[in-house]
Amino acid sequence: MDVNQTLPLLAGLNPSQFMRRYWQKKPLLVRQAIPGFRPVLTRAELFQLASEQHVESRLVEQHAKGWRMKQGPFGKRSLPALSNPGWTLLVQGVDLHVGAAHELLQKFRFLPDARLDDLMISYATPGGGVGPHFDSYDVFLLQASGRRRWKIGRQRDLTLQEGVPLKILQNFEPEQEFLLEAGDMLYLPPRYAHDGLAESAFGDDGKASDCMTYSIGFRAPGQTELAREMLQRLADFGDAEGGSGVPTHYRDATQAATSTPAALPDALLGFARNAVSKALQDPLALACALGEYLTEPKETVWFEDPSDNWNPHHREGVSLDLRTRMMYDSHHVFINGESYRAGGRDATLMQRLADHRFMAAADLQRASPSVLSLLADWHGAGWLRQG
Ligand code: SIN
Ligand code: CO
Repeated sequence: MDVNQTLPLLAGLNPSQFMRRYWQKKPLLVRQAIPGFRPVLTRAELFQLASEQHVESRLVEQHAKGWRMKQGPFGKRSLPALSNPGWTLLVQGVDLHVGAAHELLQKFRFLPDARLDDLMISYATPGGGVGPHFDSYDVFLLQASGRRRWKIGRQRDLTLQEGVPLKILQNFEPEQEFLLEAGDMLYLPPRYAHDGLAESAFGDDGKASDCMTYSIGFRAPGQTELAREMLQRLADFGDAEGGSGVPTHYRDATQAATSTPAALPDALLGFARNAVSKALQDPLALACALGEYLTEPKETVWFEDPSDNWNPHHREGVSLDLRTRMMYDSHHVFINGESYRAGGRDATLMQRLADHRFMAAADLQRASPSVLSLLADWHGAGWLRQG
C-alpha cells in the first residue's frame, strides 16, 4: 500500500499522516469513509453466523432491571423479536468466514498484521448498545447501515459498575457526540470512553434500515501474557534442541550439610537465573517464539481440506486462505504458528506472499524446490488456495 496516498478512509489524510497525528493519540471522525460502501452481509447472514458453534457471539440486552448478557451460539428462535427495542447481537471474527469482510480489513493494512485483530459486527434494535465503556485496544467503528449516536470522552475515572455482566463505566462523562450514518467511521484510541446507541433510520425506499456497526479491532499483547508465552516457547525450544534427550538437572556436589534445611540454596537460585538467561541468549529464538505466537490461529479456527490437487504450474498463482496468518522477520517466515528459516531469493518470495497474501504464477515458476514443497504442504493443510 502506498502510505503517502491520501484516502477518503482517513478523512483525506494519508496513512503516514494518520499514524503520526491520530493513531493511539486522539479520535478521528470520518464522514463517508468508503465511497459506495455496501455491507458485507445481510442481517439474516449475520444471524446465521451467530447460530454456528465455532463463531463467537454475544447478546446484550437492556432491561428495566439492568443489563443482561448471553454467549452464543444463538439458534433462530433464541434471539429477541426484531420489534423489541434495546438489544444488540455482536459477532466476532467475521473476517474469518466472509470473504468480503476479510477484504474490508485489507484496507487497514497500513498497520502491521501483528496488530490487526478481527472484524466484529454488531446488529442493534433502536436504543440498543453495550453501555458506556472503554476498550484496551484501538478501534475503527464503521457504521455499515442505519444510524448510531456515539458519545465519547477522554474519561480519567475508569471505575466500572459492579455486579453487571459487562464492562460499564460508573461515571461516564461524554465530551463529544456524533451521529454516524451508513458509511461514516469513528477511530478511537485505546481507553477512550464511548457509548453508542442505535437510532431508527429509514432508507431511500422508506424501509427501516438495520443498525449495523463494524468494529475493526486491534490487538496489543500484554506484557505479562507475552512474557509467559515467550518463556514457555523458549523453554520448549530448549527441550527440542537438547540433542541427547537427557535434561540438564541442578547438581550440588559441593552442598555442605545444613542446619537450616528450609533455606533455599543460593546455588539453586543461580541455576534458575542461568536457565532463564540461557533461554533468552539466542535473539533468533526469541524472534521465532514471537512470530509463532503472533501467527497462531485462534482456538476456533480450523482449515478445510483442499478441493483440488496441488499443481505448481497453476496459471493463476496461489493466495493465502482468509484464516491464514503469515508474517516474517529478516531470518524467518511464520505461518499459522509455525516458523521456517529463510534467506536469499526464497525469503524474498515468501515475504511477498505474506505482504500481498498472493503469489503470482511467474513467481511460482521461479520458486526453489524447497519453497514449492512448503507451498504444497500448506495447500494440503488448507492454508493456501490455488487461483
Ligand atoms: C457495538 O458495536 O455496539 C459496540 C462496539 C464498541 O463499542 O466497541
Ligand atoms: Co467499545
